[in-house]
Amino acid sequence: MTEETLSAADGEWELDELADAYAYPEERGASGAWLRANMVSSLDGAAQHEGRSQPISSDTDMRIFGTLRALADVVIVGAETVRLEGYRPARAREVFAERRAAAGQGPAPAIAVVSASLNLDFSLPLFASPLVPTLVLTGATAPVERVRAAREAGAQVLVAGDGASVEPARAVAALAERGLTRLLTEGGPRLLAQFITAGALDELCLTVSPMLTAGRAQRIADGPGVTVPEKFALASVLEEAGFLFTQYRRI
Ligand SMILES: NC(=O)c1ccc[n+]([C@@H]2O[C@H](COP(=O)([O-])OP(=O)(O)OC[C@H]3O[C@@H](n4cnc5c(N)ncnc54)[C@H](OP(=O)(O)O)[C@@H]3O)[C@@H](O)[C@H]2O)c1
Repeated sequence: MTEETLSAADGEWELDELADAYAYPEERGASGAWLRANMVSSLDGAAQHEGRSQPISSDTDMRIFGTLRALADVVIVGAETVRLEGYRPARAREVFAERRAAAGQGPAPAIAVVSASLNLDFSLPLFASPLVPTLVLTGATAPVERVRAAREAGAQVLVAGDGASVEPARAVAALAERGLTRLLTEGGPRLLAQFITAGALDELCLTVSPMLTAGRAQRIADGPGVTVPEKFALASVLEEAGFLFTQYRRI
């Protein structure tokens, strides 16, 4: 792959251009899937401001966010992000309909929520009225009542861990077994850190936001670290209004 830096000097990118730029590669990891993360960070490494990522994002960041969703089979997200960011189900978007059909995908990606406690509001549209049933990834010892509540709401509960926690590699394998191989995680930082340390992350789409926040916000990956830093290669960079939209792939 060649590195490229494109600037939106002539106006904003068409969604089709973005979809081409972010197409999933043909190659797959050992799991049979490709796991990409999409995160935004301030210049000084904050992954949120006052508990939300929106203040460090931009309209173009959200266009790319939407495009990455439109290319994915499933969007994996940690329960705390669902709780704090008021997550909604993915929409079917006319502009991506033909592309998704050609890729053998349904009209919208499923959302897969990772949770041990299942302390989630199952009456929310994310669980009660999605276009595609929402998946809940949890451990084998998840509270039985909460598993029942999730299923009654219409969610599909997948067990991907022997204890209370989900094992990241098992989560990827469980999704791949269901034919969901174009994976996108939108964090949050505690979940992303686990995909990184498990060696399960193939690609990071990182938006560098031209803002400084100081303070004590989380970084994009928050949790125990790896023993040896893992190397990623720059695959592409887009620039708009000082925001850098980078794409790095595992070497
Ligand atoms: N900058 C960005 O791009 C970005 C992206 C997303 C989120 N954020 C920000 O990040 C913050 C939230 O992120 P966070 O790191 O605190 O939380 P998170 O990763 O979204 O969610 C953590 C929760 O996910 C569940 N979880 C994580 N790993 C698990 C495992 N192995 N097994 C079972 N469950 C597991 C647990 O849920 P239970 O407690 O239910 O068991 C845990 O409490 C928010 O402020 C949000 O705005 C920023």
